[in-house]
Formats: sequence, C-alpha cells, structure tokens
Amino acid sequence: MKYDFDRPIDRWNNFAAKYDEMEARFGRRDLIPMWIADMDLMTAQPILDAIDARNRQGIFGYTSRPDSYFEAVCQWQEKRNGWKPDPALCLYTLGVVPALCTFVREFSKPGDEILFTTPVYGEFFDSVENWGRKCLTVPLKEENGYYSMDFEVFEEALKRRPPLFILCNPHNPVGRAWTADELRRMGELCVQYGTLIISDEIHSDLMLFGHKHIPMATVSEEIAANTITCTSATKTFNLAGLQAATLMFPNEKLRDTYQAFWKSMDVHRNNSFSLVAVEAAFRYGEEWLEQLLAHLERNVTYVENYLKENIPEITLHRPECTYLLWLNCKGLGLAGDELPAFMVNEAHLALNDGRGFGKTEGEGYMRMNIACPLCTLEKAMAQLKAAVDKHMGR
Ligand SMILES: Cc1ncc(COP(=O)(O)O)c(C=O)c1O
Repeated sequence: MKYDFDRPIDRWNNFAAKYDEMEARFGRRDLIPMWIADMDLMTAQPILDAIDARNRQGIFGYTSRPDSYFEAVCQWQEKRNGWKPDPALCLYTLGVVPALCTFVREFSKPGDEILFTTPVYGEFFDSVENWGRKCLTVPLKEENGYYSMDFEVFEEALKRRPPLFILCNPHNPVGRAWTADELRRMGELCVQYGTLIISDEIHSDLMLFGHKHIPMATVSEEIAANTITCTSATKTFNLAGLQAATLMFPNEKLRDTYQAFWKSMDVHRNNSFSLVAVEAAFRYGEEWLEQLLAHLERNVTYVENYLKENIPEITLHRPECTYLLWLNCKGLGLAGDELPAFMVNEAHLALNDGRGFGKTEGEGYMRMNIACPLCTLEKAMAQLKAAVDKHMGR
C-alpha cells in the first residue's frame, strides 16, 4: 500500500498535546507546532485495522497479553537489528520515561549520581532529579555539528561509581547513531566500573541515510549482561497516546526487581488498544516504516538545502537518525531567552529550546520536529527566512 505523508491532517481536534498545549507553553496559538516528538502523520493501516477490529468487539475488560505479543516485539528486533532478545525477559511498561524513573528508583539510592551525556532528551534530567538523585553529566564533544563521546571525561565520571548510565541510543537530539566501536568502549568502561547501562533505544527504528542501529546488548556478551534495553512501537509508529513500551532485561533478578514496583501499583497490563496495535505494528508495519523513512529523509534534505541557500546563520549537521533536527542558531547572535522568543514571536514557530537538553550545551540551539507534510515544512521555513531576513536587516 502506498501512503501519502504529504497530505495535511488537521490535528486541532485530535486531542494533540503538540497543538492543544502550545498556547500554555509558548504563549501564543498562531504558531506552527514543531516541538514535542510525535508526528503529524497517520499511522500504518494494519495498526488501524487491528484497533478497528478490537473496537468492534465492544468489550474492553482487563486484558490478558498473549505470548505472541512479546514474540512479535522480539522478532522485529531480530529482523531489523539482528538481535534476539528473550521474550521471557521482556516486560510491558507504560512508557520509556516511567521506566527510566523506575530504574532510578529501584537501582540507585537517594543522593546517588546518575550518569548521562548531554545535550540529551530533557526527561533524563527529570527522571533523575524527581527521585532525589543527582545528574552526573558528560558533555559530548562537538566538531562542526558532529557529536562524539569524550571518553576521557566519561571515564573520569565513571570513577565516581554512578550506579546507572542512561544511554540515548540513537541519540536525541544530536542525531547520532553510535557506532559499534563507540558502544563497545562505553559498554566496557561501564562493566569495568560496575555501572549498569540503561539503553534507551526508543528512536532505533528511525535510522536515516543508510545508518544502522546497533543495540547495546549486541555488542558483547559481557555488555549484554550489564544492559537493560528500552524500546517502543510508539515513537516508530506514532502511537504515543496508546502508552506502551517494552523493556528487555538481561536476567530474571533485574526483571523481577523492576516488576515488583509496578505490580505493587497493579500496573502491568496493556490497555485494550495498545495490546493489538503494538503487535500489528511489529508484524505488519514494515512497509509503512520504509515509506516513512523515505519521507523523513526527503524532509531533512529539504531543510538542509533551504538553510544553506536562504538562512546561512542557522546550520544543521545532517542527522543519522530521528525526525528531530538540532539547529545551531548561534549565527543569529541571540542570547539566552532571546532565541526562543525570536522563534515564537518573529518566526511563529513552536520549537524546543536547546537549553531544555542541557543548559550550557543547548544554548544557541533549537530542536525542530520535521515529521510533517512537506507543505508544513515549506511554510515553516518561509516564516523562518522572513524573520531572519528582518533580524539581519536583509
Ligand atoms: C530518548 C527518548 N526517550 C523516551 C521518550 C519518551 O518515551 P515514552 O513516551 O515512552 O515515555 C522520548 C520522546 O521523545 C525520547 O526522545
């Protein structure tokens, strides 16, 4: 089936946080929403069919998860990434962020330092601080927009014996698909210093321009034994509102410790719709995903060319993954709050302020979500150009 991702869809009546919460967050309603990481694109037909069929049953009692659910999740990993997780060591969870909070809660003590690299998805900070732990951050090295791990600083941080390293693999917002060598070095150092790795692989299906995702748990047996992996169909297939993620544990002890907390809250069942949607996504969603990736690559290339030709003050290093562009806006000469205010009040765009990903490392950056029809992107770039031209006196 051919999908048309360029067809505009009105999300103002879609109960979409990206739209309905924009005014409260950005202070205006007349903005193009390009912030929170979901897509203005319809999900795959097999998922819609599965939800329709479930809906027609008309009974939505407590759900029982069939074995086929985690089998589908694991078969997808094998097919896409050559990794065979054990379905018996998989757990359902509401979302990756609730899972991160639970790891922090269960696998560290109040006051402990939790390690991660920045700039990074802002909820990493909250997942640590909300539970009374401290963030131990290692800034990534940046060279002409390309980010890499600073292994010396990383090892120095590990010497402080943080119980957990939360890895963003691949990395939001800098768009890095970590190489096997990089992952091996990170993984081996964590094993050496006794730091458990939480590998957040929620963006792992969104690999662009020929880059391959490498699950941390495939790098070596020793590293696999020290890694918990977080995956989800929700980012890949635009199902965040269904709230379902999968965690893959290396052993029963870690799995059961995690599960004890959620069992104590009686939260361990899928809802009626995520149950069928996730399985349909992983069994029948690949055709849709391939077309989505082509659409995203086209959108990235469009912005890349547009910036080069029209807005040289804003630069972009081509992302290797995700639909989130990390825009370097330092050429605009706007400091602190001036940059996000410019985007809102002059360009009329709702983008994420780079400082939400790391106060210092994110200064001068904005994150733009390009998972939308081309016409939205064309309008956004024209608005940005007009605002920048005015600001630069052109
Ligand atoms: C790296 C990363 N982890 C987790 C999430 C959110 O996960 P969930 O919606 O499953 O809580 C996001 C959403 O953008 C993300 O970028």
